[in-house]
Amino acid sequence: MQIKAPRGTYDILPPDTGKWQHVEAILKETAENFGYREIRTPIFEHTELFERGVGTSTDIVTKEMYTFRDKSSRSLTLRPENTASCARALIEHSIYSGILPAKWYYIGPMFRYDRPQTGRYRQFHQFGVEAFGSNNPYLDAEVIILLVEVLKRLGLNDYELHINSVACPRCREVYRKKLVEHIAPVKDKLCSDCQTRYEQNPLRVLDCKEDACHRAIAGYPTLFEHLCHDCARHYATVKEALKASHIVFQHDDNLVRGLDYYTNTAFEIHIPGIGAQSAVGGGGRYNGLVAECGGPDLPGIGFAMGIERLLLAVDTLAGGEANESKTDVFISIMNDAYEQQALELLTRLRLAGIRAEKDYMGRSGRAQMKYADKLGARLAIIIGEEEIAKGFYTLRDMRGKEQAKIGGQDIINSVKHRLATA
Ligand code: HAM
Repeated sequence: MQIKAPRGTYDILPPDTGKWQHVEAILKETAENFGYREIRTPIFEHTELFERGVGTSTDIVTKEMYTFRDKSSRSLTLRPENTASCARALIEHSIYSGILPAKWYYIGPMFRYDRPQTGRYRQFHQFGVEAFGSNNPYLDAEVIILLVEVLKRLGLNDYELHINSVACPRCREVYRKKLVEHIAPVKDKLCSDCQTRYEQNPLRVLDCKEDACHRAIAGYPTLFEHLCHDCARHYATVKEALKASHIVFQHDDNLVRGLDYYTNTAFEIHIPGIGAQSAVGGGGRYNGLVAECGGPDLPGIGFAMGIERLLLAVDTLAGGEANESKTDVFISIMNDAYEQQALELLTRLRLAGIRAEKDYMGRSGRAQMKYADKLGARLAIIIGEEEIAKGFYTLRDMRGKEQAKIGGQDIINSVKHRLATA
């Protein structure tokens, strides 16, 4: 038996869990401020959902899905992303016939079989938002403003926001033909991945990380030049709305995104200071996804951010601000005989909302104080022979070390008062 988590997965242990909780609280609060409400979907779905939603020629579907058969021989897949699941939930529960737009956010694990490295895992976590039911370009702007606001609230101000329009299927088809004509003579100079992309989805060649591929296709026609009137107007309005909201962005002709459902606005946000996996988030419109999954013709837009990458950025660039949960009060007993009294007081404190702890390892009085320091306790309550005999507690400030005798009735209020004024 291997005592090691599977490759590309890892445990999140305390005190790191405190950092996760801190970041997750900011993500949730920001989404709620923008009017998004939480959705939780299953960790696995029918494989077909991702094949149809994400696209059969994408890297995710061809190489990266954790697909298995259950005992009834159904093909199921651990979710590699959550947009398709949200579209499925929207259709299944007929949300589309209720009040629109439906604005949802989620936080949870996703699974992709990719080569692990810093910032890239096989089980990773995404925070995402999805808004279904409106094609209003100001909604695109809202979603992008939310993405940027998350980074600001995390203290991450050095980011690069790239945006593009990947067009509607009609103008994209016209463009695709022109791009194929441009690439055909230099096809053999492309990397092997791009040769496959050229056959299956030539736009993805633009997204290749290999310099040689970019050199080979230099001077390629851009999608931007081929936008139809409606797509061009939509894109122009999004850019104007972002400018008016003081969001700094750059138009990027190479940005096509790796999932097939995108239409019109597409965007990615990078934090250059965190290494090779610098994309902390990405998203866009997906006006054909709901229909592709068997629902009505309903537009949508959203994004997802990788929480591991956000934490990496917070740790390396924003001073690793964390919210590690510390003990407020430690109860120290001078004799085993006072275990019951300690447990009762511990419960009273905890029910009053105070983070209280005691020793369970039979430590000596001195060792209990050292342990209290390790837990970060600001106060200690000492229960000894005299305290029991005379009915009071000794309350000690762990920093100044001054002590006071407090009656049993007053102990909760005294602790609260000292914690509030410390
Ligand atoms: P995506 O670009 O595939 O989009 O992933 C979004 C983010 O998830 C990435 O920018 C990255 O931060 C993080 N991520 C992706 N793969 C990994 C990995 N293997 N390890 C760590 N982090 C990773 C989507 O998933 C779309 N569903 C986004 C979306 C929502 N579009 C519209 N709505």
